[in-house]
Amino acid sequence: MTRVVLERYLQQCKTSVEEVMDSYLKERFELAPPLYDAISYSVFAGGKRLRPVLAYAAAQACGSDRRVADQTACAVEFIHTYSLIHDDLPAMDDDDLRRGKPTCHKVFGEDVAILAGDALNTLAFQVLSEGSSPAPSTQLRMIHLLSRASGYMGMIGGQAFDLASEGQEINLAQLEQMHSLKTGALIRASVQLGALNVEGVTDQQLHRLDLYAAQIGLAFQIKDDILDIEGDTETLGKTQGADLAKQKATYPALLGLEQAKQKMMGCYRKALEVLEPFGDDAEYLRLLAGYFIERKY
Ligand code: IPE
Ligand code: IPE
Ligand code: MG
Ligand code: MG
Ligand code: MG
Repeated sequence: MTRVVLERYLQQCKTSVEEVMDSYLKERFELAPPLYDAISYSVFAGGKRLRPVLAYAAAQACGSDRRVADQTACAVEFIHTYSLIHDDLPAMDDDDLRRGKPTCHKVFGEDVAILAGDALNTLAFQVLSEGSSPAPSTQLRMIHLLSRASGYMGMIGGQAFDLASEGQEINLAQLEQMHSLKTGALIRASVQLGALNVEGVTDQQLHRLDLYAAQIGLAFQIKDDILDIEGDTETLGKTQGADLAKQKATYPALLGLEQAKQKMMGCYRKALEVLEPFGDDAEYLRLLAGYFIERKY
């Protein structure tokens, strides 16, 4: 039953965010068709849309209809897709497969792939600042939050740390910091932004949601590391064993597979604990926490 509810919810959120993304992307830039083609190729290549789903579920946890988070959902997925396009580039992880398809640079070339990523990065902030809802002061707060989370001291900082750690020994505290930046920061931002769309959301609610997001963010990246070992390329839609081949610093590499799994379960339990005061409104956030650690891709 729970699985059916979760699957239906994932599907509904996916449909919503894809509609919204399409509405922002349908205006084709005719002067440089490959740019448009590369952007839509990567955005619509599939993807679980987990950051949008989190934004929707966070709005609901604060008592609102999920569709108030439409623009947020679109913005975080644009940032995420841009990060994947750049993450796969030869100068970074050098991957050939993403979302079950050849990576963006394999199809369109590195130059166009870099620009497609750049365009999605900035488009995210355009989306957040469009329209008159939420109020301009909230829009500004959101833009600030997302730029921090995705930038220098957030996701990009984490990506730089990841690259610098290839083939290096790092300790557990450093690994956790790396995970919390490269993946955790955008997941936390997705949850905060989703909730910020709700008029009357309290600081206390935002704080609790952030504790939840930090735990599932860590669990998510540990699972990503585990899947690199236990998954298969076909199901993952990306090359299995890529971390090993590049001597990436990962949880299983540092702790071993079993301890990595225990750590992930610990995060899951903590995430559920902090949601208690939200009662039934947080049901989707709870289901999502479970999905994060059980997913097969
Ligand atoms: C993969 O993210 C990259 C990481 C941050 C670990 P997802 O597993 O959410 O990728 P998609 O969007 O479903 O392709
Ligand atoms: C990617 O982490 C994180 C970002 C894109 C910000 P990974 O390099 O582990 O992601 P995958 O495994 O290639 O999807
Ligand atoms: Mg990487
Ligand atoms: Mg990668
Ligand atoms: Mg990975």
